[in-house]
Amino acid sequence: MVKGNDMNKTKLTVNSNGSVKVEGDFEIVDMQGNVYGLQGRTVVSLCRCGHSANKPFCDGAHKGKFDHEATAFELPPRKV
Ligand code: FES
Repeated sequence: MVKGNDMNKTKLTVNSNGSVKVEGDFEIVDMQGNVYGLQGRTVVSLCRCGHSANKPFCDGAHKGKFDHEATAFELPPRKV
């Protein structure tokens, strides 16, 4: 498995049984393109369990309620 270590890329870390941590240079927008104000944060965690009261951000509500062991894998080739 290839290790991700390019410091210039925005990095998303899929945490087991929890959130996706996003770090680097990024912005998060809603469906209308409005930007979430991150107050200078360069690291945030996004909810992927559906239980957060502060979506799209993780508030820790996943603990004990979400089960997914995150292990990287290869997607199948893109259809062209
Ligand atoms: S992943 Fe943390 S509350 Fe959903």
